[in-house]
Amino acid sequence: PTGWLTDSLGRPLHDLRISVTDRCNFRCVYCMPKDVFDKQYQFLPHSDLLTFEELTRVAAQFVAHGVRKIRLTGGEPLLRKNIETLIAMLAALRTPDGEPVDLTLTTNGTLLKQKAQALKAAGLRRVTVSLDSLDDESFRRMNDVDFPVARVLEGIDAAHAAGLGPVKINMVVKKGVNDDQILPMARHFKGTPAILRFIEYMDVGSSNGWRMDEVLPSSEVVRRISAEMPLQVADPNYTGETAERWRYVDGGGEIGVISSVTQAFCQDCSRARLSTEGKVYTCLFASEGHDLRSLLRNGASDAEMAGAIAALWGQRGDRYSELRSAMQAAPARKVEMSYIGG
Ligand code: GTP
Ligand code: 5AD
Ligand code: SF4
Ligand code: SF4
Repeated sequence: PTGWLTDSLGRPLHDLRISVTDRCNFRCVYCMPKDVFDKQYQFLPHSDLLTFEELTRVAAQFVAHGVRKIRLTGGEPLLRKNIETLIAMLAALRTPDGEPVDLTLTTNGTLLKQKAQALKAAGLRRVTVSLDSLDDESFRRMNDVDFPVARVLEGIDAAHAAGLGPVKINMVVKKGVNDDQILPMARHFKGTPAILRFIEYMDVGSSNGWRMDEVLPSSEVVRRISAEMPLQVADPNYTGETAERWRYVDGGGEIGVISSVTQAFCQDCSRARLSTEGKVYTCLFASEGHDLRSLLRNGASDAEMAGAIAALWGQRGDRYSELRSAMQAAPARKVEMSYIGG
């Protein structure tokens, strides 16, 4: 039972993002604020996590339904034990056309230096590294665990050396906190193989105390960079790309801006998200997921799994970012970014 699915708004299913752990060694202020994610915080117990076999079985059903790209996320995915083994299992999957999937991972970069080679050898294609500041003091304040920026930069170099490039760099911009780093970051990565992307600070989850006045619109990011290093807009690489691409006029490469607050891109959103405990979320801002783990653990056949995936995607009508501005109040409960991944 394979086929190309579309949801209730006609959007295909192309992209599966798998969260492999809800834990992280950072406490980024916009994602896992320390006062919420403290010693008392209940992370998922080990028995709740999908095993690599279960994960691969679910992923295979998604691939049979048209998924061509799989991104591993967290928390911090490199904290999951033996992640290389899972990567090798996912790298062996084939689409109905016989193609391998585009297998990638989003990391904070802390463990990249030691793991880049092994990740590449296991079949990972590329990585995206989160980096919010080049200034050591402000970076330590943002990750809130006093982690030095130099070690992340070493991780990015190691990823390039291992053949996991071009590395994409994700910078979440929080107005008044790190927007002074937009130009230093742009200057630093201009002319390098890395592709820097600026992400508007989003109202994911319910613990980061998000306020609209802390969002710096991407238009302002482009304006500030372009004033010093002229940019021109570039065509998307594919339909539904999150980032709008901008190229340096002088040939110094490109940047991207991800504007889910000021310019929603729900219209082409083809992403499904699988949580560490086996729930499928059809939107980053959903409050409930669709449980696949109980199906798995109750002996469901592949056909039953496929049917469940087809049904949940067929019903999907999420477009949170498009509706945000029209909403009176945010939904009472939203899933946390550290639980569902970026
Ligand atoms: P590539 O283009 O293949 O590199 O992937 P990508 O841009 O989808 O990857 P990435 O995970 O790096 O996405 C960047 C950031 O965009 C994420 O960390 C999120 O903050 C945001 N983002 C990604 N997908 C969505 C989405 O579906 N909705 C919203 N609102 N934000 C998203
Ligand atoms: N707004 C925007 N991006 C976020 N990320 C985490 N929390 C937020 C937020 N509130 C990004 C991280 C990382 C990815 C996992 O998600 O910077 O790149
Ligand atoms: Fe960890 Fe990434 Fe969240 Fe930072 S943004 S706390 S690195 S999961
Ligand atoms: Fe997709 Fe939901 Fe993000 Fe819109 S808000 S782009 S539907 S994940």
